[in-house]
Amino acid sequence: MSQSLLDAVVESAEAHATVRIRPASASDVESLSIYFTSLSATSRNKRFMGARADIAVVAAECVARTSHPGHFTLLAEIRQEGQGTIIGETRYAYDAAARHGDFAISVADGFQRQGVGLQMMTAMERRASDLGHEMIAAETARANAEMRGLAKKAGFEDTGLGDWQSVHLAKRLSRVRGLPQI
Ligand SMILES: CC(C)(COP(=O)(O)OP(=O)(O)OC[C@H]1O[C@@H](n2cnc3c(N)ncnc32)[C@H](O)[C@@H]1OP(=O)(O)O)[C@@H](O)C(=O)NCCC(=O)NCCS
Repeated sequence: MSQSLLDAVVESAEAHATVRIRPASASDVESLSIYFTSLSATSRNKRFMGARADIAVVAAECVARTSHPGHFTLLAEIRQEGQGTIIGETRYAYDAAARHGDFAISVADGFQRQGVGLQMMTAMERRASDLGHEMIAAETARANAEMRGLAKKAGFEDTGLGDWQSVHLAKRLSRVRGLPQI
């Protein structure tokens, strides 16, 4: 699939700028590292389900995995005055044994609650479906209201397999062939 076919464009009312969702590439490692570092401690801890000191390593992993079939990272990037800044990311990995994809997602604190997360989820689902994957699963902290809200809005359901700390969510992907991609 050509990368440009995956791009989606959403309008950020607050920033009056265009947000583009695109696959990450090797040249994004440094910007991704800066993005992770710029997240508030709360958002970063939620994204990684705990503190991570090795942010540069995490960023490199996100991009390295993109050469692995069934793994990809999507970036939400805002362009202002010709300059691109990452404001969100989602990392997807297919678990062949479990026969479902897993993902993690974050949006920059200043851009949350503007629809960027949902747009990235939609783009991720479309790409996973194109790879022939039929199910996406996710685990999040029971206390993470924003992730639970986002997943619910995206059509994920609670599998009931979580515990007092975590919620397990899943969504079956419906493959719609022949529709043009955004
Ligand atoms: C979870 C996260 C990615 C959501 O991204 P976002 O861009 O703010 O989400 P959206 O604006 O697309 O919101 C879509 C829906 O999610 C739900 N939602 C988002 N933020 C919410 C919040 N703070 N409380 C309750 N529901 C929320 C709402 O249903 C919302 O739709 P609405 O605005 O029409 O009510 C973002 O909050 C984030 O980066 N959190 C920190 C990292 C994290 O927790 N990642 C998940 C674990 S990997």
